[in-house]
Amino acid sequence: MRVFIAGIDGYLGWPLAQYLAARGHEVAGADKFLRRGWVEEVGGQSALPIYSMDERLQAFHEHFGMPVLFREGDLLDYAFLRQFLADFQPDAIVHLAEMPSAAYSMIDQSHAAFTQQNNVIGSMNVLWAMREVCPTAHLVKLGTMGEYGTPNIDIPEGFFEVEFRGRKDYLPFPRQAGSFYHWSKVHDSNNIMFACNLWGLRATDIMQGVVFGTQINEMGDDPRLCSRLDFDQCFGTVINRFCCQAVIDHPLTVFGSGGQTRGFLPLRDSMQCLAITIENTPEQGEYRVFNQFEECYSIAGLAEQVQQVSAELGLHVQVNHLDNPREEREEHYYRPDRNHLIELGYIPTSDLKAELRTMLRDLMPQRERIQARSAVLIPDIRWNGQRERSNIIDPALIT
Ligand SMILES: NC(=O)c1ccc[n+]([C@@H]2O[C@H](COP(=O)([O-])OP(=O)(O)OC[C@H]3O[C@@H](n4cnc5c(N)ncnc54)[C@H](O)[C@@H]3O)[C@@H](O)[C@H]2O)c1
Repeated sequence: MRVFIAGIDGYLGWPLAQYLAARGHEVAGADKFLRRGWVEEVGGQSALPIYSMDERLQAFHEHFGMPVLFREGDLLDYAFLRQFLADFQPDAIVHLAEMPSAAYSMIDQSHAAFTQQNNVIGSMNVLWAMREVCPTAHLVKLGTMGEYGTPNIDIPEGFFEVEFRGRKDYLPFPRQAGSFYHWSKVHDSNNIMFACNLWGLRATDIMQGVVFGTQINEMGDDPRLCSRLDFDQCFGTVINRFCCQAVIDHPLTVFGSGGQTRGFLPLRDSMQCLAITIENTPEQGEYRVFNQFEECYSIAGLAEQVQQVSAELGLHVQVNHLDNPREEREEHYYRPDRNHLIELGYIPTSDLKAELRTMLRDLMPQRERIQARSAVLIPDIRWNGQRERSNIIDPALIT
């Protein structure tokens, strides 16, 4: 298949290009290198060194025996996007090109407005360009499990049957997002559903859990094929951040009680799920929602597992609870479904500790890079709009 990846330079985009090429798909992609700039802006750097796009493309060609058709450009530049899709005529478009950080979107008015502008208008442009130049392509759009929030009932995949005043309907499940970033994803979901109904486009909206991991098998050991891995308060997702902390002997930073529970999946599972989604095209006009995660864990439980695996490798790391900079429930019910992908053949990796071992081993040689930016490990972006560094709290005082 011909697959277009919007956001091909990102944490998921670069490995996805490789995963798909290894399965015989033809890949094209666009990126504006915004993620590289955002991480610098917040004082971070990728723990794993990453290469320029020219070097990446050269390595890709050598390893997979085919080129990636790459163009640098912004999804907000409609003419650029439309022309690229018209030229490439994709069977599938994987749209990853959004600003992906909750904390970054909560810094201040301009970061919140930027996030929603970039994400909502970028996705809107993809929909209009599809309608105009490739209306039969399948849009695979990355949303997040965070769109649902933490309701006190089970979470279905996008829709549920509801009975109200004696009548029944099958309706979108309520979204209760927890940041301006997460709300941008909800707005995207609504626009995509509408475009499918209105114009007969086809789309899969992926409610993805938090991704972790340093590698997929397809990368081999060529560092140019490696993906980024961030550890700062904005772009370092929790397991990635914990592993970076562990290798420099920095206490693991759990926000609040750590009872917050979320769906997680290793990078290799994310690739597997996206390939399965691409290869199982929905009907024209269909809008479907997949929940995509391997397993649910609490943050405190994850810290404990990282601590245990670190100890096996001779790293004796402490766990600190920090006052929570976010507005979120710390103890709550959480039971989302994830049946659609399993029905299509997704086989979860199901070995968190093995993945953590790989990550810690990959990160140990990068200690100096992490240490050099360790100031970004303690959060100071607060959901109440103030900037204040979190302090350590006594877990015994947490209710
Ligand atoms: N990584 C996760 O844990 C996770 C979890 C759930 C959902 N997601 C979603 O998956 C997608 C990819 O995530 P990621 O971790 O790879 O993020 P990323 O920031 O590494 O990748 C996104 C890429 O898109 C590019 N981009 C952003 N806006 C653009 C624009 N307007 N024009 C051109 N390029 C643009 C960035 O430069 C970056 O390279 C995002 O939409 C994110 O919200 C990620």
